[in-house]
Amino acid sequence: MKGILPLSVGAAATGLLYREHSMRTTAERLSAATLETLLDAIDANDAETGAHVRRVATYALILGEAARLDEHTLNGIERVALFHDIGKLHGALTDIFHDPSKLTPEERRAVRTHPQRGADVLAPLSAFYPDLGKGVIAHHERWDGTGYPRGLKGKRIPLQARVVAIADSFDAMTHRRRYSHSRSFSEATRAVAEGKGTQFDPELVDLFLSPPVLKKIETAMRHAHMPRKKARGNRRRGETQPGPDITFRWRPRARGPRSPDRQP
Ligand SMILES: [Fe+2]
Repeated sequence: MKGILPLSVGAAATGLLYREHSMRTTAERLSAATLETLLDAIDANDAETGAHVRRVATYALILGEAARLDEHTLNGIERVALFHDIGKLHGALTDIFHDPSKLTPEERRAVRTHPQRGADVLAPLSAFYPDLGKGVIAHHERWDGTGYPRGLKGKRIPLQARVVAIADSFDAMTHRRRYSHSRSFSEATRAVAEGKGTQFDPELVDLFLSPPVLKKIETAMRHAHMPRKKARGNRRRGETQPGPDITFRWRPRARGPRSPDRQP
């Protein structure tokens, strides 16, 4: 009898651990599927925005990794970068964003609502990703406090949003859009330098402009502008991918340690 009790306690503990692991894996898959669905919805509505947010995520992660940020923060940066413009897909704004003519003052005011609209769309995910909405709403804030919608200043702007702001502006300058011509790589880096301490976090600007980071950004930029085949089998032949096929950090890994960020 003596050996039976410890054995059954051990078996029960193993069973519990297995159950917990399996529930966690299911939750990870569910949250990953939710994010991928959202990204698919962006692609389906506006492939140009889908490509833009992927490029922004790529640049933002290069900058975040250079700043030696921890994995939790990097995962947050990726999410904020990928969903920062989701508010542009609002019915009231899509026509404005797709109109190549110059914006009227009223349209400009409407455009400025997209960070709040994005945060509103993402609000149901706040229990799982509390930093996501806070980062998205702040991606047009400026270091000197003259940004929108809240006029946050300096380090009151979430770090994820400060990183994404640089990557977003850089991509907006280097990639041609309907209403603006693209600038060269060096013109765009000069503009980022000019925004140091006014538009952007000065420390992050210094890092962004450091030779190793610029080299990675330039390589990623060249890669992002190359047309490539879509990765998924269910997409039609010959279609090009909407943007760089970045390796999403939220995808559960087959092996290796679990990220502390994986929620819930
Ligand atoms: Fe934006």
